[in-house]
Amino acid sequence: MSTVLEAKNVNKYFKKPVLFHVLKDISFKINKGEFVSIMGKSGCGKSTLLYILSTMDTDYEGELLLNNELITGNTRDQLSYIRNKHIGFVFQFHYLLSEFTVLENVMLPAKKLGEKSYQEIENDAMQKLKILNIEHLATKKASRISGGEKQRVAIARALINNPSIIMGDEPTGNLDSHNSENVFNIFKQLSKEQGLSLLIVTHDEDFAKKTDRIITMEDGKIIA
Ligand SMILES: Nc1ncnc2c1ncn2[C@@H]1O[C@H](COP(=O)(O)OP(=O)(O)OP(=O)(O)O)[C@@H](O)[C@H]1O
Ligand SMILES: [Mg+2]
Repeated sequence: MSTVLEAKNVNKYFKKPVLFHVLKDISFKINKGEFVSIMGKSGCGKSTLLYILSTMDTDYEGELLLNNELITGNTRDQLSYIRNKHIGFVFQFHYLLSEFTVLENVMLPAKKLGEKSYQEIENDAMQKLKILNIEHLATKKASRISGGEKQRVAIARALINNPSIIMGDEPTGNLDSHNSENVFNIFKQLSKEQGLSLLIVTHDEDFAKKTDRIITMEDGKIIA
């Protein structure tokens, strides 16, 4: 089983307003195709951890490996490239550009990566919309679709560069139970059929129970 993401002894401190040890010796691995959830009480450090794992925050101690390569210590430009190519994000709020069409929103990260032609990117984006059953929304403005549809567009956008892993910070936090289940099923299918790894922070116990593994955090530590 190959490892996609590994955290080794990650520690983080917030220095203001007072010194605060927010993440305490966090170590774990995520395998290829594994669907993992992170649970824990509000304030235990889940978002802080995800911010580090997603390479956005570089102010930590310890090591991070993506596809067995050390990424800790890379330059900002290297990290930005790695992030765009290998990591997809889905947040509680979708952050779509409301004046752009669904298709344009999905294409954006691939345009930023700049490795394919416009036509290839457009074809890829249509294919992702198909996987998510929303190809009929392609030409609609992002502001004119429902919350559940927006979240599926956000997932399509996260998939556009064929990442190794998708990270989510409460991606179903803003959805009703029907749409949450929908998103869960999409994630499950992506992990089983495409070997995609997923690391999803959630407060939803029913959602977490159905994932392959739950990482439980308490007070900045992994306790289970
Ligand atoms: N920039 C910051 N400076 C200082 N303390 C911070 C900062 N950001 C977060 N914290 C504190 O760090 C702790 C962890 O915050 P974090 O946002 O990671 O929690 P969380 O587990 O994601 O919570 P929630 O479930 O409510 O989203 C909290 O006590 C929070 O107040
Ligand atoms: Mg949080």
